[in-house]
Amino acid sequence: MIRSVVQGCGSYLPERLVTNDELAKTMDTSDEWIQQRTGIKQRHIAADGEFTSHLAIKAAERALAHAGISGADLDLIVLATATPDETFPATATVVQKALGMTKGAAFDLQAVCAGFVYGVSVADSMIKNGLAGTALVIGAETFSRILDWNDRGTCVLFGDGAGAIVLKGEQGNGTSADRGILANALHSDGRQHDILYVDGGPSSTRTTGFLRMEGKEVFKHAVVNMAAVVGEVLAKAGLEAKDIDWLVPHQANKRIIDSTGRKLGLPPEKVVVTVDRHANTSAASIPLALDAAVKDGRIKKGDLALLEGIGGGLAWGASLIRW
Ligand code: ACO
Repeated sequence: MIRSVVQGCGSYLPERLVTNDELAKTMDTSDEWIQQRTGIKQRHIAADGEFTSHLAIKAAERALAHAGISGADLDLIVLATATPDETFPATATVVQKALGMTKGAAFDLQAVCAGFVYGVSVADSMIKNGLAGTALVIGAETFSRILDWNDRGTCVLFGDGAGAIVLKGEQGNGTSADRGILANALHSDGRQHDILYVDGGPSSTRTTGFLRMEGKEVFKHAVVNMAAVVGEVLAKAGLEAKDIDWLVPHQANKRIIDSTGRKLGLPPEKVVVTVDRHANTSAASIPLALDAAVKDGRIKKGDLALLEGIGGGLAWGASLIRW
């Protein structure tokens, strides 16, 4: 049985750091309100002229170096983003060129904050079906460009960044002791469009638009759907919550993260949290959190990591990876 095994990971954050106190200088908000509601203390914001592709390329280069391979070894790039450089072509092809990858396929995938687990799942399927051998899955976003900076209810919640992992098809035994991706679960519910969307687009308004969110509604769906999908992916792999070494959730809100951790019965030290430092970086949040926990020595070879995320669509999913 072919397993998609993680070879390495990397991430990149723009240099400019914006604290809650700095935001409070230009809008009616406070560090206390933001931290209490979300756990966010600061976020990184891309510089003028710094695009999603630039962040993605830096994260990709670090992931390739960590894996000990070069761009020429890749035959697939899946770039999860809701903030591409251009309407077309895919930002993934800009990354492909920069990495010196000349074979295979590179495309963007749009599932907003669930984009990284969607990307992992798609790359895993392609590897298992023989469509790719070595894949780079990237989550990269410049959400600062689609925020309405006059809407304090949304603009304080997000940040920019990128993260990536390299996957390679390797022979496994077909047991849950195998290294690699053990199971994935994906869902969407288009009926929930109006609670989280961007009010623009090339076909509808010919503008980019701004993010609109009914935070309380998203919160309710997130708590219920995350609990369900983590149970689903564990059942698929024949594993239980007690087997999880690390929960690596989408970093939208500390309260949603805590709720999922509690439902799984996991102690807080097994839950990777970066929302305080990065805010919500949409598709980039999970690989940024993964990379932080791998590089500081928490996630080790053989550990079981559960990734989960939810975003606009609504779209949500989970992946179970033996690192
Ligand atoms: N600073 C100070 N006050 C604020 C701010 C702010 N930045 N924003 C809103 N307020 C005020 C509101 O105006 C309101 O005031 P009022 O009571 O006088 O009307 C009050 O604070 C409460 O506002 P709510 O929106 O009801 O606050 P809530 O407790 O629901 O918290 C939040 C809002 C943090 C957005 C929360 O609902 C949440 O985290 N939701 C989930 C968001 C999420 O997970 N998104 C993930 C997906 S993102 C993606 O896919 C792109």
